[in-house]
Amino acid sequence: MSARPSLVVAIDGPAASGKSSTARWVAERLHFRHVDSGALYRALTHVGLRSLGPPGGWREEELLAHARRVTLHPVPGGFDPHVDGHPVGEAIRGPEVTRHVSQVAQMPGVRAWVNAQVRAAAAAHDVVVDGRDIGTVVFPDAALKVFLVADPWERARRRLVQRLERRPTDDEIAEETERLVHRDASDATQTVQARDAILLDTTYLTQAEQVDRIVALARALVRGADPGAGVGGGGG
Ligand code: CDP
Repeated sequence: MSARPSLVVAIDGPAASGKSSTARWVAERLHFRHVDSGALYRALTHVGLRSLGPPGGWREEELLAHARRVTLHPVPGGFDPHVDGHPVGEAIRGPEVTRHVSQVAQMPGVRAWVNAQVRAAAAAHDVVVDGRDIGTVVFPDAALKVFLVADPWERARRRLVQRLERRPTDDEIAEETERLVHRDASDATQTVQARDAILLDTTYLTQAEQVDRIVALARALVRGADPGAGVGGGGG
């Protein structure tokens, strides 16, 4: 166990820019752990939908009273969000949670709660964290900050391929693009590119290419800071 503080790679960007899957791969290659901050906002929204009344009327205090039911559980490679001690799995990726999560993420107390969970997860491990404000608010001193962007149509197409497991029609992509652009607008306040973040436009990159670039950046940075150090040595 080394005495140096944990290394943080922050990956931010708008909806469906590929942050989570990229972060998971990058973490695996570097032998870091992946923390998905959006999963906490989603898990709390899921709890709200199950336990509180109609989403329009939720008060911050009543939502926060349920926050202790949501925990980050360590698993190989990262952390899984649990609700009431059980993994939430894909339940937090559905359309209802996606429709209401931005509203929950506007609440300052909820943001403070998520940030505390994420920082606690990073306290004992090198981590790759993805979200909207990781490089600006949560880890302003992160070793590497990447801001992922992609054309909205391409983001919508990728999200649908992932969800439908088939080629989506143009009409389906158009509708999904509308929804993404709308969510981007709702999330605009917290989706900020840090001044020292590296902008990566993934519109014409494959997932493997974008992962390779971030891994290369992370390795170069660590070598530059400490020529004797290495991250995730060996192949890959
Ligand atoms: O991957 P996708 O863009 O669908 O979303 P996500 O990363 O799972 O995040 C879901 C929602 O959580 C976003 O639409 C934001 O409202 C919120 N979020 C946030 O406000 N700040 C973060 N650091 C991460 C997510």
